[in-house]
Amino acid sequence: METPIPLVDLKTQSAAIKQEVLERIGDVIDSAGYILGEQVSQFEQQFAQFCNAKHCVGLANGTDALHLALRALEIGPGDEVITVGNSFAATALAIHYSGATPILVDCDEEDFNIDVNQLESAITERTRAIIPVHLYGHPAPMPQIMELASRHNLRVIEDAAQAHGAEIDGKRIGSWGDVACFSFYPGKNLGAFGDGGAAVTNDPVLADKIELLRSYGQVRKNVHDRLGFNCRLDTVQAAVLLTKMQYIEQWTEARRQVASWYREALAGAEGVTLPPEKPNCRHVYHLFVIRHPQRDELLKFLAERQIYCGIHYPHPLSEAQPFEDCATVPLGLPVATRLASEIISLPMYPEMTRQDVSRVAEATKLAAQKDSILP
Ligand SMILES: Cc1ncc(COP(=O)(O)O)c(C=O)c1O
Repeated sequence: METPIPLVDLKTQSAAIKQEVLERIGDVIDSAGYILGEQVSQFEQQFAQFCNAKHCVGLANGTDALHLALRALEIGPGDEVITVGNSFAATALAIHYSGATPILVDCDEEDFNIDVNQLESAITERTRAIIPVHLYGHPAPMPQIMELASRHNLRVIEDAAQAHGAEIDGKRIGSWGDVACFSFYPGKNLGAFGDGGAAVTNDPVLADKIELLRSYGQVRKNVHDRLGFNCRLDTVQAAVLLTKMQYIEQWTEARRQVASWYREALAGAEGVTLPPEKPNCRHVYHLFVIRHPQRDELLKFLAERQIYCGIHYPHPLSEAQPFEDCATVPLGLPVATRLASEIISLPMYPEMTRQDVSRVAEATKLAAQKDSILP
């Protein structure tokens, strides 16, 4: 029996940094700064610097980051917020939490990100903001989105949950829009040992507002002049993230290396469409997503060989119950719907070896030979 190759391997990386993390968590225990302790502000400083932005506010998770960003921009009932139809549900859920209405735009066949050509026709007099998602770690086309947003006086909230360290023209994701929202869910490129998130911005007023919103809307002890929430980044998670910040560049380069091994090994493979990386972009390969016309058979074929893949995501958001009534542009999201039946996320994590990649690629090529994949 061959050794399993998981979609994501958290155990190997965690084992490598366990002692360091335990020491830092020990410091938190000793200091008793369990809520908004010094590790939170230290991490916020480091992460803002990493994104080349002025401010970072640590939050409980990425969904809260999106929700609070919308609230801080005073977006709510009666407003429309445009996002892409092929994202994780949290992007559109956060719009619902704010009371605004999500409008779902189709994606570009080339890079799976929001189709800027469709974006303009989704704008109405009620539109207040756009939430592009840097899906799989490949940046959305921010220069075009920012140009459109400024022409229509719209705010831009980047959903950067999958794109820590990604760049366009050498400019980091996190410093393009009004605010960028990150997730530190354990499987993300920078993941905590539990939930975590952050909002990153160059706007000090916005940063202050998000800071208030994350802590009950409390201006001073027992003074609440607005509706607030409790969604702070835990000090223990900040300690984990501070440890991991030392390795994020190294891990990102390792992901990029894995991607280039895949590209080499799968070049010309029958039925396989490799993911794009635009020449002016730094893709951080949160996921390595290929397309295959017989996706379900391929998934099964690989699983039988102990190679575990994923589907991100099996249907467009408009097919999920909370978003059934959302407007789609164009109607029915034809590209996102087609891609949903073809995409497959191959194993991707920084610790993957060249041998692991070869095994996945060889099995994928074998499956692509019709006789193997078809009954
Ligand atoms: C694109 C996207 N947006 C938002 C989120 C929400 O982040 P979290 O799980 O930290 O709430 C995630 C990940 O889970 C995501 O992948």
